[in-house]
Amino acid sequence: MKILIINGPNLNLLGLREPAVYGSRTYSDLCTFIGDVCVEHNIEYKLFQSNSESAIIDEIQAAYGVFDGIVINPAAYTHTSIAIPDAIKAVGVPAIEVHISNIYEREEYRHRSFTSQACITTIYGLGFDGYKNALILLKDYLTKGIKPEQGKAPDGRKIAGFLKVSRQNYQPAEHYGDIKLPLRATEGSAGYDFFAPYDIALEPHQTVTVPTGIRARIDKGWVLMIFPRSGLGFKYRLMLNNTVGIIDSDYFYSDNEGHIFIRFTNGDSPLCIRKGDAFAQGVFVPYGITSDDCTDAVRNGGFGSTDIKK
Ligand code: DQA
Repeated sequence: MKILIINGPNLNLLGLREPAVYGSRTYSDLCTFIGDVCVEHNIEYKLFQSNSESAIIDEIQAAYGVFDGIVINPAAYTHTSIAIPDAIKAVGVPAIEVHISNIYEREEYRHRSFTSQACITTIYGLGFDGYKNALILLKDYLTKGIKPEQGKAPDGRKIAGFLKVSRQNYQPAEHYGDIKLPLRATEGSAGYDFFAPYDIALEPHQTVTVPTGIRARIDKGWVLMIFPRSGLGFKYRLMLNNTVGIIDSDYFYSDNEGHIFIRFTNGDSPLCIRKGDAFAQGVFVPYGITSDDCTDAVRNGGFGSTDIKK
C-alpha cells in the first residue's frame, strides 16, 4: 500500500505560522507524526510539500500507476484551484482531503473547497490527527472498500460532520487523545457509533455521565438523536437518563462548543464498557416546523438545555 501525502503552500511554515490556528508544532514534526502513523499501519509513503500549484499538479500526475492513494492538504489552493481537483480526477487515484484547522469556523471564503469534489471525504479541524484519520480511512477504503462517507444522507446530501471539542473543553484531560470520531459500522446503517474514550465500569443501577469529546455540525432542518447502543439495551437494560437524546443544530455554537454528554443508567447486571467500545449511537433525522413559527431566539445551552444566548 503506497500513499502520497501532499501539503500545499505555507504548511512548510507550521510552528511559525499563526500558532493560535495551526498549533506550535512544525512541518518537520508533522512529517515525523505521519511517518510514525504509516509505520504503525504498514503503509509505504512519500511526503511532498510545495508552495506552487503547478508543482502539486505535476506530483499528482506522477502518482498515476505509482501510488494507491493520496492524502492532500491543498492549503489555500483548496479555495481557489480547479486544476488540483481536475488532476486528482484525471489520474483517478483515490484521495482524501485534510485541513488542520476547522475551515467552516473561519472566514467565509474558506468554507468553499473545490478539492473536496475530487476526494472521497474531507477531514478538518482535528490538527495533526486529521492526517492520521485520513491515512487509516484511505487504507480501509483501499483494502476493504469501506467508504468514509460520514453524514451522507440517503439522498446523497452530506448534512453534518463530527468534530472533537477543543482540548481545553475536555475533562478528563488525559483521555483527550483517546477520543474517536463516531463512525457508521456499515454503509447501510443509520447509527453513528459513539466510542468510549476510557473504561467505564458500572454497578447495577449506577448512573454515569460520559463526556464524549464530540460535537456535531448539523445543517438546519436536521437533528441528531442519541440512543444507547441497542445491544446494551437488550443485554443490560441500559437507559438514557434524559430518555430522549436530541442534539439540535444550534447547540454547536454554544459556549461549551456543543459538547455532547451522554448520561445513562445501568440495568440489573454489572457492566464494563472498554475504552474504544461503541456504547451509544447517533442518528441524523430531519424535522419540520409549523407554518406560523417565528422563533428567532439563539441557544446557549449545556446539557439538555434550551437556555437563551444573551
Ligand atoms: C488549511 C486551511 C486553509 O484555509 C489555509 O489556507 C491553509 C491551511 C488547514 O490545514 O487548516 O493554508 O488547509
